[in-house]
Amino acid sequence: MTARERFLRACRKQAVDRPPIWFMRQAGRYMPEYRALRREYSILEICKRPDLAAQVTATAVERLNVDAAIIFADLLLPAEPLGLELRYAAGEGPIVTPPVRDREAVAKLDGELRGRLGYVAEAIRRAQSALGSEMPIIGFAGAPFTLASYLIEGGASRDFRHTKAMLHGDPVAWSHLMEKLSPMIVEYLSEQVQAGAAAIQLFDSWAGALSEADYRRFALPFNQLIVGAVQDLGVPVIYFSTGTGGYLESVAATGAAVIGLDWRVSLGAAWRRLDYQPAVQGNLDPALLLAPLAELRSAARLILNEAGDRPGHIFNLGHGIWPETPVENVQALVAMIRNGAAQPQAEAGAATQPASAAPRARQRRVRK
Ligand code: CP3
Repeated sequence: MTARERFLRACRKQAVDRPPIWFMRQAGRYMPEYRALRREYSILEICKRPDLAAQVTATAVERLNVDAAIIFADLLLPAEPLGLELRYAAGEGPIVTPPVRDREAVAKLDGELRGRLGYVAEAIRRAQSALGSEMPIIGFAGAPFTLASYLIEGGASRDFRHTKAMLHGDPVAWSHLMEKLSPMIVEYLSEQVQAGAAAIQLFDSWAGALSEADYRRFALPFNQLIVGAVQDLGVPVIYFSTGTGGYLESVAATGAAVIGLDWRVSLGAAWRRLDYQPAVQGNLDPALLLAPLAELRSAARLILNEAGDRPGHIFNLGHGIWPETPVENVQALVAMIRNGAAQPQAEAGAATQPASAAPRARQRRVRK
């Protein structure tokens, strides 16, 4: 079974030989090749050079031996075509200026993409030719709530106070903002699908800052619109959020084929709550990649056990890989999943071998 078949079959809840595995943030700073490139280029330069973005994307897949690539890009790239300035300050994360805090600022945003994020689609094409057609490439975008929170706060935030001030103080401004962002995100994702993305992940990383009622009122309708439009193109959407364990049913109401779970919920209980309707992705705590391998193995095994042999589980973390993570531990985790998390000896060897030498022999059987 090719990686593409394994990944797409799991998205559609069809039987696979073993769960597909990939990692959120698999191409980031924890990887020495990426850090080396960053000494020469800024993150924005890497994003805007399709040759470099494709190279970063492909290197991660080759190093880790995973079943899917996620295109190297950033959630905040749409800030620029909207007419805002985007920069990344060392240690502070992204900064967006000027922050969009009222109706006038929303009205000034340019809602037309006009091909200005075309470098992402081009990077997908190049990554596909570097990796070959059997490797699925995941395109992505920020969900409107999470993207808007950066635009309104002007960067990262703990409590989202300006965002919430707009939601509750001027819901019309919020609607205008959502009505600008949502079609733009659809267009951006359509370009990625046309370029060959096999699936799309919608990152709603900070949705859990909202109560369920506010999620349903201020975020869900726009997520439904985007998920519906993308899935109408024939590719599955993975909807990922964190901190939403209290209202997973509302999260599943996005209609996404795959629901990405954070590590705070038990995968088995969460899936049951959703009546096994969507496929699920997750949900190992990224901190386990810094733990002793025996702990990593038992945590991985627990997740496999919770998923059982039910088709429709994509193994991933519950959020992105931490920058401090040793690459060897990520490789060891991939080897564990390839082996059903059961062979300590094989894993110990695999961690020190090139990823391509990871043992493949004792894969779990396809369940009919
Ligand atoms: O495998 C990959 O890493 C794919 C590329 C990718 C990046 N950003 C590159 C990046 C992806 C999938 C993202 C998504 C993203 N970006 C999200 C959603 C994912 C999540 O973790 O919830 C968010 C919220 C952002 C916004 C963003 N970009 C932040 C908060 C930061 C700073 C992070 C930090 O730890 O400092 C960025 C910068 C960024 N985007 C980096 C990378 C590899 C690191 C900065 C660098 O290279 O200097």
